[in-house]
Amino acid sequence: MKIAITGGAGFVGSNLAIRFKQDHPAAEIIALDNLYRPGSELNLPRLDEQGITFIKGDVRNPSDIAKLGEVDVLLDCAAEPSVLAGHGSDRDDKARYVIDTNFLGTVNCLEHLRNFGGRIIFLSSSRVYSMAALREIPLPDKNGRFNPDTGAVGPGWSEAGVNENFSAAGSRTLYGASKLAAEMMIEEYAEMYGIEAVIYRSGVIAGPWQMGKVEQGVFTFWMARHVFGGALNYIGYGGTGRQVRDILHIDDLADLVASRLTDIGNHKGYIFNVGGGAKNAVSLGELTQLCQDISGNQLDIGSVIKERPNDIPWYVTDNSKILQTGGWSPQRGTKAILTDIHHWLVEHQATLESLFTGELK
Ligand SMILES: NC(=O)c1ccc[n+]([C@@H]2O[C@H](COP(=O)([O-])OP(=O)(O)OC[C@H]3O[C@@H](n4cnc5c(N)ncnc54)[C@H](O)[C@@H]3O)[C@@H](O)[C@H]2O)c1
Repeated sequence: MKIAITGGAGFVGSNLAIRFKQDHPAAEIIALDNLYRPGSELNLPRLDEQGITFIKGDVRNPSDIAKLGEVDVLLDCAAEPSVLAGHGSDRDDKARYVIDTNFLGTVNCLEHLRNFGGRIIFLSSSRVYSMAALREIPLPDKNGRFNPDTGAVGPGWSEAGVNENFSAAGSRTLYGASKLAAEMMIEEYAEMYGIEAVIYRSGVIAGPWQMGKVEQGVFTFWMARHVFGGALNYIGYGGTGRQVRDILHIDDLADLVASRLTDIGNHKGYIFNVGGGAKNAVSLGELTQLCQDISGNQLDIGSVIKERPNDIPWYVTDNSKILQTGGWSPQRGTKAILTDIHHWLVEHQATLESLFTGELK
């Protein structure tokens, strides 16, 4: 078996590459990455130790993807994953970068598979869903956090979270739009050229080896601030940390993807929401409490009243569809996830402190 992972030096890509190698020691695993993400180079020794081949390459260049040759499975994890990419001072360089990498990069992967064969697993995002519709969900404040009322339901959502039928119409950030456009091309290539494909739409994924920053990987970033110090702010929604997300441990994602690696044919064409779910949902205020309890450090968190562009008050994954396929459910709770992140930060303090206290752009 030969497995290629684009974005293979990133958080998701490197962790999944290592998991695949552990499950299939005889398999050839190739990680392709242009090392765009600050800190991704820290994952290279981990890949090397496991016997994973690293190719420095850019998904925007078909000639770099051609270096992968024939593959059985291509896991597409290369992305500019920030919802703020293309905003403000980022506008000039990042807007084009998001589209070229997240959309055209995936098209280049599909073209490669059309020529050489092979299946695709695509890491998509909850950000394909409509921002306006997400903001319209009624969210009473319950004990300092947003949550729909018990029994409340609407189109594509309920107290259990957002499901795959939720509206994807209207603006959804450049990031979300580029992921949705890539999904649509995958569906076309699957239908037209018989490429077997599965698409996982995740909200927040977190865990060790995530080079978290404020606009992407915020749970890891929040814990890193508690360990290494530095400023944190509750931004928008009253500035008290009431906004809510569910978190999925990277190892839970790895359990899912690894178990489906040789079984994509039975799941092809399907789009699944995959997240920590309602039991793994926390507000930013609750996240602070967990970080304090685990790290033993207390920070003064600032308050910014003005909402951040592209923010949403609540996103929780309704996992019903993926759960119905059987054999998988998230096993690690929020405390376990944050404890694992804390251990990693402390164990690798010498290399990680400067990264997390520097200007992560
Ligand atoms: N982490 C999350 O919470 C989360 C949630 C939902 C979806 N996802 C998706 O999972 C995938 C992986 O995200 P991640 O969290 O590992 O982010 P990441 O930034 O850690 O990893 C992405 C990797 O892609 C690489 N990359 C960027 N541009 C590239 C290019 N043009 N060519 C080659 N490599 C390039 C980066 O260097 C980085 O190593 C992305 O597709 C993202 O949209 C992540």
